[in-house]
Amino acid sequence: MQRRQLGRTDMVVSVLGFGGSEIGYQRVSERTVARLLGGALDAGLNVIDTAECYDNSETLIGRAVGGRRREFYLFTKCGHARGWDRADWRPSALLGGIERSLERLATDRLDLIQLHSCGLDQLRRGDVIEALERARERGLARYIGYSGDGAAARYAVECGRFDTLQTSVSIADQEAIDLTLPLARARNLGVIAKRPLANAAWRYARKPAEPYYQAYWSRLRALEYPFLRGEDGAAATALRFTLSVPGVHTAIVGTVRPERWRQNASALEAGVLDGDEFEGIRARWRSVADASWTGQV
Ligand SMILES: NC(=O)c1ccc[n+]([C@@H]2O[C@H](COP(=O)([O-])OP(=O)(O)OC[C@H]3O[C@@H](n4cnc5c(N)ncnc54)[C@H](OP(=O)(O)O)[C@@H]3O)[C@@H](O)[C@H]2O)c1
Repeated sequence: MQRRQLGRTDMVVSVLGFGGSEIGYQRVSERTVARLLGGALDAGLNVIDTAECYDNSETLIGRAVGGRRREFYLFTKCGHARGWDRADWRPSALLGGIERSLERLATDRLDLIQLHSCGLDQLRRGDVIEALERARERGLARYIGYSGDGAAARYAVECGRFDTLQTSVSIADQEAIDLTLPLARARNLGVIAKRPLANAAWRYARKPAEPYYQAYWSRLRALEYPFLRGEDGAAATALRFTLSVPGVHTAIVGTVRPERWRQNASALEAGVLDGDEFEGIRARWRSVADASWTGQV
């Protein structure tokens, strides 16, 4: 498994990381998560990303691999201590949430704490960033980051106070490639690609009922990438595209299946896409995407 230096942090991360939202929201059993994460660690994964609001994801991760804490970098997010629909950006709520995350994750220090997609106004006010800086000073987290998209992500990169940016990058979400990643790269921020497979939305023959998948599903129908026609290899090309984007260091794929990590890892043995294939996907995006195709949180 290839590794890349995560910007100016001291972390050298596997290009394929683990995204922890599905295991929480889909109520995966402790046994399955132990198999999934144990197998991935054995095979070279060293990045686990989650959030306090992904249902019981943090607890599942803590129980599954808390005993192997030295073998991976642990990232979580704060701002929704009472669930995704009930954001709470008060500094006291952020710090309280971080302490609860440490307990759930069975650790005394996070490698990275990220603000979980607060808006631009919130970021500009600055107290949310100060809260994370305080958490870092107190030793609760080694680095601080912003997770989100669009103008807020741009501000997060410009303000110079974050070590990392987690943002959507995929064949169906390319706004960041022009809006934030060149500057993030120039400033040597670590970049974590979220939703790196576009939720594999091409798998659905009909528009999925789940709203979270709908924008990517509609975009992929319009983009009509030829490599999505045959199921075989679609995910491999999609993932290799994300990891070919200049400035991206790791892609955190979500899954509920223990066999997935190895499958995706072996797809990455082919390395990044060749220049023509990468430019073909970029060109198709440029000719089809309209102004409404913004980065999806
Ligand atoms: N605002 C934020 O900060 C934010 C927002 C969204 C996501 N995130 C982070 O990003 C992570 C990843 O995002 P995501 O899970 O929404 O999107 P994703 O990684 O693009 O897609 C995950 C989906 O892809 C499927 N998949 C994985 N490998 C596959 C393969 N080889 N072939 C076919 N399907 C495959 C998985 O299904 P199976 O279960 O069948 O493998 C899962 O349903 C999250 O877990 C979370 O950590 C952060």
